[in-house]
Amino acid sequence: MSPFNKVEFKETKLREDFMKGSRVKGFYQLSVEERVNLIAKDVGLTHDEVNILSNGMSLDLADAMVENVIGQISIPLGVAANFKVNGKDVFIPMATEEPSVIAAASNAARAAYDLGGIYTATSGTIMRGQIQVLDICDPYAARARVYENKEEIIEQCNLKDPTLVSLGGGVKDIEVHLINTVKETMLVIHLIVDTKDAMGANAVNTMAEYVSPFIEKMTGGRVVLRIITNLADKRVVRARGVFSSEMLGGEEIVKNIVSAFEFADADPYRAATHNKGVMNGITSVVLATGNDTRAVEAGAHAYASRTGRYRSLTTWELNKEGNLVGTLEVPMAVGIIGGATKTHPVAQVALKIMGVKTAEELAGMIAAVGLTENAASLRALSAEGIQTGHMRLHAKNLAIMAGAKGDLIEKVVQKAIEEKDFRYDRILEITNSLK
Ligand code: MEV
Repeated sequence: MSPFNKVEFKETKLREDFMKGSRVKGFYQLSVEERVNLIAKDVGLTHDEVNILSNGMSLDLADAMVENVIGQISIPLGVAANFKVNGKDVFIPMATEEPSVIAAASNAARAAYDLGGIYTATSGTIMRGQIQVLDICDPYAARARVYENKEEIIEQCNLKDPTLVSLGGGVKDIEVHLINTVKETMLVIHLIVDTKDAMGANAVNTMAEYVSPFIEKMTGGRVVLRIITNLADKRVVRARGVFSSEMLGGEEIVKNIVSAFEFADADPYRAATHNKGVMNGITSVVLATGNDTRAVEAGAHAYASRTGRYRSLTTWELNKEGNLVGTLEVPMAVGIIGGATKTHPVAQVALKIMGVKTAEELAGMIAAVGLTENAASLRALSAEGIQTGHMRLHAKNLAIMAGAKGDLIEKVVQKAIEEKDFRYDRILEITNSLK
């Protein structure tokens, strides 16, 4: 039976007492069926779409997507509640195997909600393709020749993707870089391509390959690599949010959060973990929407090093009222029209749940989660530490493994917490004794 039909909320109660936009009282306490039902009603999912959420993709589709398929590995898909992004309430799907990540984002989002939620801005949808030219005897003159032929290079590239061009995209400009390596001065041409609602790797790589013979002719060199760069520094998303100091636990905790940011910004060892926390949020949404998690991760970490030192992707400070203000700035090469974003049925449902109509809107949602996830990690680290929350979820998983079901799960978890004993053997004993 589809979960869609199973639970009937009374519409007025749902709206007035239980649910206000993306804020749902005790969302985490609902059953999976109740949550699905609620989201389905809120965003208008069809029965088929609801079924896709539990069934995932077919093996045939998996076989068509990659090679040597023998099965699939499932990752839990949750939704973060309490998000308001650019003034609009939204449920944000997150796919992750890590406990606490979705709960943490939802909790911190609550602290920003009444202060306006998260605001985002994007720099556009421009990607760069790189063409590496070797064995040039006159690199400076070759660079000049490439610039002289700029219009023709652009024209040739754009011939390869008339659809993108008809949508206002395509190659807009070029840059020519001279890169001094151990052996020689390489000429590296950047195609500056507006990929619109596509992530753009296919379009950019096709253009780079196509135009290369022409580049060889004008430079007298030998083209080898022709590939997009994941350092998408012309496709940056920015997020900003004010988080209530009171809801985060008070003055001391928010001051600790600010110094946690200062620590990360000054020390790459801490920055790596700090940014890992940001990526817990970002990657979960990127994955849920069928986008390329590795491309986004590579871009984020390269961008974090853009000053020559690996630093925090976020900033945290206190405003006049003593509330915590965070910003995030990160490249976000995601699309909504190509590859798995289009073919993976769950990705399509995830995009529908968010209601995004453009790649830039999706980038904004992802950044909102990245910033909020970071707020949640830093809050826990600055207060009780992260283990309390983790151990609760760990105990829950162990209780389920031990055979606990329904209400019994919470009872087992409570007992394990009281005893501060999270060994599987003990949880099995508790489960059996409470059964
Ligand atoms: C764990 O997945 C993420 C954190 O380590 C992030 C951080 O330290 O800021 C909690």
